[in-house]
Amino acid sequence: MAFDLLDEAGYGRWRDQKLSSRPDDLAELVVEVGDITALTDAEAEALRRQVRRCNMALYVETAPQPDRDDKQAVAALGRRFGLVALDRNHLADDDGITPLAVAAEGPRSRYIPYTERPIAWHTDGYYNPPATRVQGLILHCTRPAAEGGENKLMDPDLLYIQLRERDPELVRALSQPQAMTIPGNDDEGMTRPAMSGPVFFTEEGRLAMRYTARTRSIEWHPEAEAAAAMIRDILQAGGTDIFTGRLQAGWGLLCNNVLHTRERFSDDPARPRLLYRARYHDRIQDS
Ligand SMILES: [Fe+2]
Repeated sequence: MAFDLLDEAGYGRWRDQKLSSRPDDLAELVVEVGDITALTDAEAEALRRQVRRCNMALYVETAPQPDRDDKQAVAALGRRFGLVALDRNHLADDDGITPLAVAAEGPRSRYIPYTERPIAWHTDGYYNPPATRVQGLILHCTRPAAEGGENKLMDPDLLYIQLRERDPELVRALSQPQAMTIPGNDDEGMTRPAMSGPVFFTEEGRLAMRYTARTRSIEWHPEAEAAAAMIRDILQAGGTDIFTGRLQAGWGLLCNNVLHTRERFSDDPARPRLLYRARYHDRIQDS
């Protein structure tokens, strides 16, 4: 068991395999595809190969069908990889796939995702209860911003390795059930109870991570505070495990909910930035 702190040998084998296949830059993860609604077997396998390597792949469409509905295209892409259980939040459209664009007014306009402001490091759905944890994520770009809006990306497995190599106690502190608590909130008639949980945990033998770098409205267990500070330092330092990419029209990220940011952007109101986001309770199928 690689993630058992007592199993040094098992962890060592997993770590070495992981590090030996680590990509040097984001370009290695790019897979050219014709149309995400009609992937060839070779295209699908090429995407899976990158996901097996570092939990994420970037696709670049070269021949998307004109005038198609991008939201349905994203749903079709997800199904191809076993992503079917969509996470529905109260701001998502009914079908669970959310258009991300600047909202000038309405309930969305009060949330950072619907502004031009940057979003700090996180995994999606860190406030979800365990039963509806977000495991798979697709971000599809229909129209990039006039300027900015890059994503920084990091495979959580590599962050785990960095921490465990420094001190296994950091991992132990982050794996306890009370490590990170999101206080409850009341909003638009929706009540969300306080949600405590570990930062690192396993699901079917795979490592998973629940994290936000935001400091407001987050309570860290006293034993996990030092480890949380260490995570912030690692992410801020921007080492070789962190990639930065800017999605262009017809590009997208297919991933097992890796750590990511969204950098600040500025919109051209005539051609506003539009991304579709699909969150799933499933992981990407390996084969
Ligand atoms: Fe996100």
